[in-house]
Amino acid sequence: MAHRAGIILAAGEGKRMKSALPKVMHNVAGLPILGHVIAAMRGAGIGRIVVVTSPGGAAVRDYAASLGAESVIQEQQLGTGHAAACAEPLLGKFDGALVVTYGDMPLVTPDLFEESFATQARAGMAIVAFDSGSKAYGRVIATNGILDRIVEYRDANEEERRVRLCNAGILAAEAKAFFRWAAKLENKNDQREFYLTDVPNFAKRDGVRCGVVDVAEELAMGVNSRAELAACEAVMQRRLRSRALDNAAGLIAPETVFLSHDTVLEADCRVGPYVVFGSGVTVKSGAEIKSFTHIEGAVIEGGAVVGPHSRLRPGAVIGENAHIGNFVEVKNSRIEKGAKANHLAYLGDSRVGAGANIGAGTITCNYDGYDKHHTDIGAGAFIGSDTTLVAPVKVEDGAYIGAGSVITKDVAKDALAVTRAEQKENPGWAASFRARKKAAKAKKDK
Ligand code: UD1
Ligand code: CA
Repeated sequence: MAHRAGIILAAGEGKRMKSALPKVMHNVAGLPILGHVIAAMRGAGIGRIVVVTSPGGAAVRDYAASLGAESVIQEQQLGTGHAAACAEPLLGKFDGALVVTYGDMPLVTPDLFEESFATQARAGMAIVAFDSGSKAYGRVIATNGILDRIVEYRDANEEERRVRLCNAGILAAEAKAFFRWAAKLENKNDQREFYLTDVPNFAKRDGVRCGVVDVAEELAMGVNSRAELAACEAVMQRRLRSRALDNAAGLIAPETVFLSHDTVLEADCRVGPYVVFGSGVTVKSGAEIKSFTHIEGAVIEGGAVVGPHSRLRPGAVIGENAHIGNFVEVKNSRIEKGAKANHLAYLGDSRVGAGANIGAGTITCNYDGYDKHHTDIGAGAFIGSDTTLVAPVKVEDGAYIGAGSVITKDVAKDALAVTRAEQKENPGWAASFRARKKAAKAKKDK
């Protein structure tokens, strides 16, 4: 395959987001917008990726670097064409084709870039367009799939404004030629900016044609506001749900389930209504997640049942046939085969051995205000209701803990530990108490 490079424009301020976070760092399905763009580029075999950032965009540069992308700084935001030209020091000598894309389009796909390269290879250059009448977009004037020009809406005349074909903001060209044309851009327009959309004009003068790749608007939706971010999230969720269903995950009410970009739902798992997946979750075949459960960074093995109303936090591993019930929170804990915590418990930094039973109201006190400590519960242990386990502590295999105990010392295998005070009984006390109180009240009311 020919060498491919990508330029992602992300130096704009994203003012309408009114956010301390740079626009491209906002999440869609748990992954920053920029992460989606980079992943789609990688999927199209793009090896070198350069992200154009603003001087204040350190967070964007760090994130790009973490994904193996390079970055440059555009000192002043002089327009999209100027921004793309800022990649010249890194890609000016690149031997192959490149694609330029705006960084705020989380719904782009590898196929979209593949198609852009294919059209570029055929025609010389390519841009991506979609059908929309919105004023937000530049108009694409083309005949028989070959571009004549792109006109920004604000610079367009009445006739041009009526054109429905709009510029998505993806352009493919041969790298060296692209930088040669970009260097010629002028800012003679309403915004006094150097427009990327003028690059095809210079290509044309060199006899290079520009093909138009016509796609669904849904692939090229941009994020400029919170409403558009939510709209992109909705499209992404629909995509992820249908991918899960295609893989035979048992979603009974998919429209209510929120997925993360990396959620793994194996075939024949079951997921009830209103389940939310944060990142890093795998639900294996045969596992069942009941409604209103929130899961992040967890693995659920086959036969396990989680929920309704459970919370699994990072590091939770729910073993085969284990049960986690309502209002049980599990964090950084391994719940081994067949163990059960069916109601109202907190299990943090712990291991619950195979077949152990965790009574309602059990709490692992894993944090002393400074450090986290481990609780180890052996196989077949029985932890009575309302037990407080003060970590670090170990309950060995088969041990019993009496309800209401505060356990601060290790408990030996098969032993019984009870720490509550002994029960006392005062016969007839309640009846005489009531009689005394009634008499006193009658006297006062008189
Ligand atoms: C641009 C296109 C328009 C297209 C629309 C699609 C131009 C001139 N216009 O308009 O034809 O229909 O996108 O959404 O290209 N950026 C920089 N540096 C700059 C300016 C912009 O990095 O100096 C980045 C922004 O961060 C953003 C992208 O380029 O990611 C697009 O910029 P924006 O100002 O949103 O362009 P539009 O006016 O929407
Ligand atoms: Ca825009």
